[in-house]
Amino acid sequence: MAIKIDGTALANQVNETTLNRVVEMSKRGRVPGLAVVLVGNDHASQIYVQNKERTAKKLGIHSEVIRLPESTTQRELLDQVNELNMAPAIDGILVQFPLPAHLDEVEVTRTILPEKDVDGFHPDNLGRLFEGDHGSFPVACTPQGIMTMLESVKTPLKGQNAVVVGRSKIVGRPMSALLLRADATVTIAHRYTPADVLPVYTRNADILIVATGIYHLITADMVKPGATVIDVGMDRDPDGKLAGDVDYFEVEKKVRAISPVPGGVGPMTIATLMKQTVDLAEWHEE
Ligand code: GUN
Repeated sequence: MAIKIDGTALANQVNETTLNRVVEMSKRGRVPGLAVVLVGNDHASQIYVQNKERTAKKLGIHSEVIRLPESTTQRELLDQVNELNMAPAIDGILVQFPLPAHLDEVEVTRTILPEKDVDGFHPDNLGRLFEGDHGSFPVACTPQGIMTMLESVKTPLKGQNAVVVGRSKIVGRPMSALLLRADATVTIAHRYTPADVLPVYTRNADILIVATGIYHLITADMVKPGATVIDVGMDRDPDGKLAGDVDYFEVEKKVRAISPVPGGVGPMTIATLMKQTVDLAEWHEE
């Protein structure tokens, strides 16, 4: 039986450290601040944002959620971001994606000050990651959380074959940069990788990260025995229950370690967001 990578337990550990740092900071008269901007009525986004708000409150992080209507214009959204860029109480700004189709995510990403870019999506921060820079700057929360999960089960990375399925700005691209920085041999597969070729890559993966949003895309015949598998999917099974991109109960029979859905990547993304908010607040103190 595989090791189950328990994202909830690991997130609790990360949050405990974050809470202690917030307590220490409050003794210096400083409270870390996170602003989350949510545009429109996307149901999944509303739930993610609620979870972020709840965790921030629990950890003593000042949190502001700015809910804007679906009809918000690009100009109005950029003005809101600029206001947060200048707000001294705010250390980290997160604009929840996806935005409604009429809004330009790239321009929004570039408007957030790099030093408040808690998502690590700004080209300055993403560029540093691709440079292989090991210094202090924010990194996309889901991939960074996954690195903590891999570390928690002592996954060797150097010289190992890592395959990332999915090339999104939020997960696939920054994930591949993190694995590359850790000296893995990285392959990125995506929607244009022919379906009959995808297994050729995945069967070769010592580390397999799957972030496609396709329910049970990865079946047991597609994984390498002994691999470490991380499932970023937030899909629905035929009964409407939350499930992942990986057929967990079949794949777990074959691999060394695997993360479940729910209780895997999701809680670690939020814990990493909170940790990085405090990182930013500490840098802003200097
Ligand atoms: N939507 C889903 N995950 C994320 C994330 O990590 N950051 C932002 N900004 N939007 C998201």
